[in-house]
Amino acid sequence: MKHFVLTATATLLLGTAAMAQETRTFDVSLPLGAESHQAVGVLKFGEELERLSEGRLTIRPHYDNALGAEREVVEGMGFGLIDMGITSTGPMGGFTPEFLLFDLPYIFSDHTHAQAFLDSEYGDQLASAIETAAGVKILAWMENGFRHETNSVRPINEIGDLKGIKHRTQESSVQVDTWTALGTNASPMAWTEVFTALQQGVMESQENPIPTIYDVRFYEVQDYLTISQHVYSPAPLMIGAQLFGSLSEADQAIMLEAAELALPVQREASLALEEKYIDELQELGMEVTRPDLAPFREAVAPVIDKWKDQVGADLVDAALNFEPASN
Ligand code: MLT
Repeated sequence: MKHFVLTATATLLLGTAAMAQETRTFDVSLPLGAESHQAVGVLKFGEELERLSEGRLTIRPHYDNALGAEREVVEGMGFGLIDMGITSTGPMGGFTPEFLLFDLPYIFSDHTHAQAFLDSEYGDQLASAIETAAGVKILAWMENGFRHETNSVRPINEIGDLKGIKHRTQESSVQVDTWTALGTNASPMAWTEVFTALQQGVMESQENPIPTIYDVRFYEVQDYLTISQHVYSPAPLMIGAQLFGSLSEADQAIMLEAAELALPVQREASLALEEKYIDELQELGMEVTRPDLAPFREAVAPVIDKWKDQVGADLVDAALNFEPASN
């Protein structure tokens, strides 16, 4: 009996050691390309993961939605069909209403406000909500950035210029309400279809962060860029919760550390590319306008009132009133 106990313990220890030494490559889905601000974060995460695990853990990025559209990728991670992904939060309100917070207009005033909020207990609360609802674990609140409108119809110098323009929103009823309140003819469409829809005139307008507009070459099919800054869009780096739970504790810690090291690098790149690409988009022929945003805020205030309870009034108020700690 004594011999059996020792043998079983030894087997267990050997098993644990083998698990801690697991070699694995994680497939990672990205909606954008290899030069994008999303890729900067994912590649830095992969580099740190490989370094910290001494080469055992690596990533294989799949760019431009090669593994599926954003909603499918979130579902796929939850079902264990896709290992990891970075996405905008646009489709995530469909899994849990707290994520509609990121669709509500003019909640976050600048990057510091948004990032400090996500790095606080509210970011943990949101991560826990999506883990329960969709079975995905957020490793880092990377960012897509503030979103801005583009169109092929006319320069937007004032809110009235948006009237009647066929505008694509992400798959979110809050976004449809927002763009209807702003005067457009708004309808939702999956990200994978947007470029062709703009090219063919099925849609005339869309909105995305500056680095995204550049990465997917929207300047080829859109002449006008409006600095509307209507929402801050995170781009959480995620892993299937079951997959994460199946890793050894040591490898879970390595994964979290790699994500923590990649986060500031991604956020800095996002900001730097935003500044750089406004000029480049102008050089590529886009006309940039900066309308007074006060009438925009006024027009969409009823959208916040309409959705506030469903998103969670406490969460919305916490976001609106959040004071980043001063250094
Ligand atoms: C979208 O507009 O659907 C997204 O912002 C695309 C993305 O994740 O970059």
